[in-house]
Amino acid sequence: MALKLAVLVSGGGSNLQSIIDKSEAGVLDARVVLVLSNKPGAGGLERARRHGLPHAVVDHTEFPAREAFDAAMVARIRESGADLVVLAGFMRMLTPAFLDAFAGRIVNIHPALLPSFPGCHGQRDAADYGVKLAGCTVHFVDEIMDHGQVIIQAAVPVVPGEGGDTLGARILELEHRIYPQAIQWLAEGRVRVQGRHVLVADAGRLLAELGRPALVNPPLERGF
Ligand code: GRF
Repeated sequence: MALKLAVLVSGGGSNLQSIIDKSEAGVLDARVVLVLSNKPGAGGLERARRHGLPHAVVDHTEFPAREAFDAAMVARIRESGADLVVLAGFMRMLTPAFLDAFAGRIVNIHPALLPSFPGCHGQRDAADYGVKLAGCTVHFVDEIMDHGQVIIQAAVPVVPGEGGDTLGARILELEHRIYPQAIQWLAEGRVRVQGRHVLVADAGRLLAELGRPALVNPPLERGF
């Protein structure tokens, strides 16, 4: 049976779109049962509407405290029957009560190679720092921002002189591929957590077939 997803968005929702597309294409064995936003005008809600998916707003500005806001979200998500909470550009920190309600069942995508560059501007911070490799991370969510166990990461070489915006756009393309993939692994029950480590059953086989892949930037020249 398809994994039921509650996708939480605050903005445009391009990651939500990638999940919807893969689900509609039958590649991802998961179904969006709720799109929930803390912002009434979030683009992600429009995407839900267009695809005829259940959607709702719990506006954080209408709540006196974080706890009350989170309680309202928990109630709405429980009602939807979701198995997994998918944060896709959701810009609020979650309280312990929310984390407890869906323990081990909350994932997030971050536009940097964690633990480098946590926070709201991962792409820009990476570009400003001058790293040669940047990327994105899908991880479980715990009480510390951008800190839970890593499920999958993807890296891109940073082009000389490139700023956060263009780098961010290239990272976003990869986000749209790795997030549905991570959710598919969860849907297939192939993900096991051991302390800080996430083991994906059978995923190592492909890596072995690839030999010793490495992304080096600037690229190594002949003889090295
Ligand atoms: C993405 O860069 C994601 O990594 C970050 O917020 C952004 C959301 O973009 N957490 P979108 O709303 O999915 O287009």
